Amino acid sequence: MRVQVNARNRGYQFDAAPGEKLLYAGLRAGIDLPYECGTGTCGTCKAKAVTGRLRDGWPQAPGRKYVKPEQGEFLMCQCAAEEDVTLEVAKFVYAADPGACVPAACAGTLRQAAMLTHDVMSFSVELDQPCDFDAGQFVVVAAPGVEGYRAYSMVNFERDTRQLDFLVKKKTDGGISEWLFSAGRDGARLELFGPLGKATFYPDLGKNILCIAGGSGVAGMMSILQRAVQERYFEQHQGWLFFGVRTMRDAFYLRELSAFRGHFPGKLAITVALSDEDVPGSAANDWPALAFARGLVHEVAKQAMAGNYQGLRAYVAGPPPAVDAALRVLLLEAKLTADNIRYDKFS
Ligand SMILES: Cc1cc2nc3c(=O)[nH]c(=O)nc-3n(C[C@H](O)[C@H](O)[C@H](O)COP(=O)(O)OP(=O)(O)OC[C@H]3O[C@@H](n4cnc5c(N)ncnc54)[C@H](O)[C@@H]3O)c2cc1C
Ligand code: FES
Repeated sequence: MRVQVNARNRGYQFDAAPGEKLLYAGLRAGIDLPYECGTGTCGTCKAKAVTGRLRDGWPQAPGRKYVKPEQGEFLMCQCAAEEDVTLEVAKFVYAADPGACVPAACAGTLRQAAMLTHDVMSFSVELDQPCDFDAGQFVVVAAPGVEGYRAYSMVNFERDTRQLDFLVKKKTDGGISEWLFSAGRDGARLELFGPLGKATFYPDLGKNILCIAGGSGVAGMMSILQRAVQERYFEQHQGWLFFGVRTMRDAFYLRELSAFRGHFPGKLAITVALSDEDVPGSAANDWPALAFARGLVHEVAKQAMAGNYQGLRAYVAGPPPAVDAALRVLLLEAKLTADNIRYDKFS
């Protein structure tokens, strides 16, 4: 199917395979169509159909509350073309940056599933073909027998890799959550599309970096820290990570975070914020490389970062309320400009 997209600044044409979501077809063709979640919740990929028939794969998508179907509006991440179509996108759309990793469909095998806490697990996907992604990016994943895609951020960072590492927080009654947390998923085949997302870190950034993660939001931060440590970024710049969990029982990756800090103890500070309990006396002894504080992660970060906001790029990820609270601090307290704030809402 031929797709014509008329954006605010110019037009583009690309091909979409039968059943292929229009967002994924455009991104695969190197056209940077607007999106955030890629999975039907945020409404950012809204477009208007001018000609041609579409099939909506998920008419109940939460993101549909942002569209006016009676005016031909739809979500590009949920709809496929049934014939040649012409669309309007009310935003400026550009070709993908020359050095960017262009997303593509791929597949792989689930390996090394392991529980990190009572409701967080990690697993890897062994890819059929190697791929490149940038630190801080995510892919959308489809599992057998579960309708639709779910977004998960890569934890690792490696160029031309055959392995993607993920961590997943269990969502009660969630389709993939229930599938993944049942025993014996090792060896299952997964379909993926990516890499996606703009909360990316590049070593030529030339700024201090601040990461604020609510729970599983730490996934992409692990990738960013891994790349920054690999590139010895903290020889020149400061780094701060604030990792919010409810209690010590919910914390994970403390060994890996301690190792990151061990490379640059004077330049990288890592604080675990506990929202629902006082910091246990044993925490400082057990994890001497890390700091601990009681409070919501955005509050802990706000207190610790006062006066340190110059020359800074901030990364935020986690549940939407945690991200919104952190964004308020970064915009109103820190007075960072929007281009120095990158975030993923785990909606
Ligand atoms: C950019 C981004 C990165 C993320 N990274 C992580 C991460 O690293 N770790 C983590 O734990 N969580 C992450 N999340 C959150 C994670 O994607 C959700 O927790 C996950 O979707 C829950 O899936 P579920 O199947 O358990 O729940 P469900 O409630 O079954 O599904 C949730 C989502 O799946 C999609 N969906 C559901 N039904 C359908 C359908 N019929 N058709 C099409 N789509 C459907 C929708 O997007 C829906 O919102 C991220 C989210 C985003 C947006
Ligand atoms: S990108 Fe389509 S709803 Fe979020």
